[in-house]
Amino acid sequence: MKKTLFLLLLLPLLAQGKGLKDTYRRHFLIGVALNTRNVNDDRQLIIRNFNSVTCENAMKPAEIHPAEGRWNFREADSIANFCRAHGIKMRGHTLLWHAQFADWMYTNADGTAATREEFLRRLHDHILTVVSRYKDVVYAWDVANECVADGGPTPYRDTRHYRLLGLDALRYAFRYAREADPNALLFYNDYNAFQPAKRDRIYNMVRQLKEEGTPIDGIGLQGHYNIYGPDMALVDTALTLYSTIVPHIHITELDIRLNNDMGGALDFQRQAQPATPEQLEAQKKQYRDLFRVLKKHRKTVDCVTFWNLTDRDSWVGPTNQATLFDTEGRPKPVYDVVNH
Ligand code: XIL
Repeated sequence: MKKTLFLLLLLPLLAQGKGLKDTYRRHFLIGVALNTRNVNDDRQLIIRNFNSVTCENAMKPAEIHPAEGRWNFREADSIANFCRAHGIKMRGHTLLWHAQFADWMYTNADGTAATREEFLRRLHDHILTVVSRYKDVVYAWDVANECVADGGPTPYRDTRHYRLLGLDALRYAFRYAREADPNALLFYNDYNAFQPAKRDRIYNMVRQLKEEGTPIDGIGLQGHYNIYGPDMALVDTALTLYSTIVPHIHITELDIRLNNDMGGALDFQRQAQPATPEQLEAQKKQYRDLFRVLKKHRKTVDCVTFWNLTDRDSWVGPTNQATLFDTEGRPKPVYDVVNH
């Protein structure tokens, strides 16, 4: 009788099954990008499924360091404190980027353009302050984000930091991050990192920087995909290639949307609505194929992070249905495909 009662009490728990992080325990960490609403409203969902967290925006220079000497730690702290309280590790995102960056670093108080030394002094101060503040909880940093060009004759993206410093911007950013936290894994992160031409540019750049002594531990593939592409065989090839030069690979921003805008060319107005059964099946197939490839590379792939928790939070809009949870935070059928 007692036994039956015990089993009955256990049933709801068993029926819930394993969370994502448990399903992939022997493969890699499962992460999620969060906003501050999530850490207030979606605590159970997060705790149950994820063992790595990235701030969707809160640690970006424009958010956390909007002007010289002005810091805004509030949002990043609230997410970091949630993670600290629940023993969840974090990925830091990001330190050097052309978007959502601390653009003030390029201009002096008197309006003149910053010299290379003036810019680097500010970047150093920025990186030392942010990385030190979260070093107890952040185990990996996206140090440099999206520095490679999608096309054109030069392999590097034409950014302000590239115009001012060339590849030195990356060399210094990685060195400063290492100085601030010798234990953090330092990543180069980019989108469309599976596309052969861009893949080779990323490979060449990271290889060159590493050979010169720049402390890069890993490559991040953002993973903003859709139901038409990429062919996961390309992801497979990219992972094989990258793993010859770095010991760590993370999928840093995974979502698979229903429309077919790729990478930088997003058009949120062209969201698929309403979703057809065919689209939802194609999405399942993409997620299924991807995780098959990722499992195969589990020796180098050690974290897979979803970009946004629910379709409500998704940066590509709710009707793209790109995440595993619906706008109410309920697991969708595609969740079961991944949590398998
Ligand atoms: C996105 C956020 O999700 C949005 O909320 C924000 O408005 C723009 O940036 N690549 C990255 C991420 O490295 O930081 C971006 O995040 C998505 C593309």
